[in-house]
Amino acid sequence: MYERKLTQIGSPKSKVINILLAALSERDFIAQGHVERLSKMAGTMADRMNLADDERRNLILLAKVHDLGKVGVPDEIMFKPGKLSEDGYERMKEHAQIGYNIASRSKELFHIASLILHHHEFWDGRGYPFRLKREQIPLESRILSIMDAYDAITSSRPYHNKIGKEEAIAELKRCSGTQFDPRIVDEFAKLIEEQDTRGLTNGKGAIKNCWN
Ligand SMILES: [Fe+2]
Repeated sequence: MYERKLTQIGSPKSKVINILLAALSERDFIAQGHVERLSKMAGTMADRMNLADDERRNLILLAKVHDLGKVGVPDEIMFKPGKLSEDGYERMKEHAQIGYNIASRSKELFHIASLILHHHEFWDGRGYPFRLKREQIPLESRILSIMDAYDAITSSRPYHNKIGKEEAIAELKRCSGTQFDPRIVDEFAKLIEEQDTRGLTNGKGAIKNCWN
């Protein structure tokens, strides 16, 4: 009941989330359109995978706030053009823990703090921050990581969206069983293949998130 209110438009708690998102967007910690596309995908994937109501709500909320920890990453790393140094990458990786720290102190977000913490774990245990493996990684975090990667790839090719879509699915399949949960990749690939991309995402907007 409490969590359901978070996703109700206009509720006081959803207003808090919207203010947070606006602040993150204003500083370019999250790309415009990314949150909207991921939220839409989250609802569609939740339905496809028959998630329980609480898992569905958590996944949609996670889609919105998973990168809030980027507020704690120094600007010179966050906005560095080109590839990050090894040290810079290590600092960037801290956004998962920082996001957890923030969320766990928020009555609006504490129930998804661990989902935020683990949104960059890999299926084979080579992710971060805790190198969790397989089902040790929360289901919502496993789903989010696949959608996040898909959106990053397709959004980086706004003028060749069909090619971007095919490349993105090929990339997800290439990383299936290593970075991503193979069962979820299969479901997501089927979903994308069955739907007109424009019905699921608008394919617009540059992305600044990390996906590994
Ligand atoms: Fe992230």
